[in-house]
Amino acid sequence: MIAIAILAAGRGTRMKSDLPKVLHELGGRTLVERVLNSCQEIEISRRLVIVGYRSELVKESLLGNQKITAENPELPPLEFVEQTEQLGTGHAIQQLLPYLKGFTGDLLVLNGDVPLLRSQTLKHLVETHQQHQNSATLLTANLPNPQGYGRVFTDSQNLVTEIIEDRDCTTPQKQNCRINAGVYCFHWPHLEKVLPELKADNNQKEYYLTDTVKYMSIVMAVDVEDYQEILGINDRKHLATTSDILQQRIKDQWMARGVTMIDPNSITIDDTVELQANVVLEPQTHLRGKTAIASGSRIGPGSLIENSQIGENVTVLYSVISDSIVSNNSRVGPYAHLRGHAEVGANCRVGNFVELKNAQIGDRTNVAHLSYLGDATLGEKVNIGAGTITANYDGVNKHKTTIGDRTKTGSNTVLVAPIILGEDVTVAAGSVVTEDVPNDCLVVARARQVIKHGWKLKK
Ligand code: UD1
Ligand code: CA
Repeated sequence: MIAIAILAAGRGTRMKSDLPKVLHELGGRTLVERVLNSCQEIEISRRLVIVGYRSELVKESLLGNQKITAENPELPPLEFVEQTEQLGTGHAIQQLLPYLKGFTGDLLVLNGDVPLLRSQTLKHLVETHQQHQNSATLLTANLPNPQGYGRVFTDSQNLVTEIIEDRDCTTPQKQNCRINAGVYCFHWPHLEKVLPELKADNNQKEYYLTDTVKYMSIVMAVDVEDYQEILGINDRKHLATTSDILQQRIKDQWMARGVTMIDPNSITIDDTVELQANVVLEPQTHLRGKTAIASGSRIGPGSLIENSQIGENVTVLYSVISDSIVSNNSRVGPYAHLRGHAEVGANCRVGNFVELKNAQIGDRTNVAHLSYLGDATLGEKVNIGAGTITANYDGVNKHKTTIGDRTKTGSNTVLVAPIILGEDVTVAAGSVVTEDVPNDCLVVARARQVIKHGWKLKK
């Protein structure tokens, strides 16, 4: 039986942020969510999260985040353990004592700020621990620059004797490049006995979880193959470095699955995004949140798509799309903005400088130039003339515009909502339409042109 405990109580002072460190985001997920997800391949009986600094935010974020449970409904519920004062990682784990009374299994402890761990790595750690029936097994790595990490010291049989924090190391000890990743598997009945022994006799005057290894045997170290996995985040620079590594991973994975990227270094993709083979991503394209893009679509250059569904063979050029849907074979941009549940049908064109907000557009409808359509429903084969605007807001409330199939609006039309234009309507250019228009009509809603022959300005 394995329980996991995630250390997420610290503020993360070095982040210089009011937001708890573990709630900073990397590739569309919070650090703590990533750490939780990295345990996916292990069969877990309990999930404990130790919270402290702004604990309500951490809880809210994890519980509000359906993704974690939705992706694996068999997971046990999250249990939050309060560490009201943050007196160190050992003190944090001491808070588990009442919760794990009588528990006889293993406890996998993870720092909440180690977001790049692979689930296979954790699986391997746990398996090694169980095979050897160790008291503790920890992940280690040889870092080219170990500064800031605890150093792991071993005896002649390669078993761990001690972990010394960077700031407590003597100069010769600092030469040891084998570091503690902050990921441990403990046999709980052993750890339980040792936890009350911890003393805060170190540079930070904190209770260190790492000191427990001094009182335990056998403690084994398992080196990770790829040290990038165990990089911990303590400041914004670390956040940027790990973000680069994560992006590389995500992009390599999509390219292996048949996605073309032009200038991949300029592209960013959250790992919540789904792409099909034969998608082409052009430079400066950013895909975020729950976005899905189907085969044959070409996105970018210069586009941002978040929480949106893009069908097959769609092109999106220099545009921003959020919380919206674009169906097959449609063209968006250049310079279009779709937001607030815009839905574009198949074979449509949403062109230059067009904004759609909560507008549903039927198949083969075009909105090609300089328009704002908000809170609108358009039928099929509608043609929206350049500069058509829905006046949907009266200063207090938003109102709806409905436009029937095959209707055409002339350039510079204003549709004052609430309003319904029927099917096969033609709106004369420059009209300000304030009343509903039935099917098959021409509507002219502007002052008639006046010409005065021979008229001259009086001197
Ligand atoms: C810790 C390890 C160090 C290791 C490094 C790996 C200790 C004493 N040191 O150092 O050996 O190389 O991680 O990244 O464990 N936290 C709490 N309550 C507390 C203190 C911290 O929940 O009272 C949480 C933090 O929110 C964080 C994690 O524990 O998620 C690690 O704390 P941090 O202060 O970053 O430890 P490091 O100094 O990085
Ligand atoms: Ca850390």
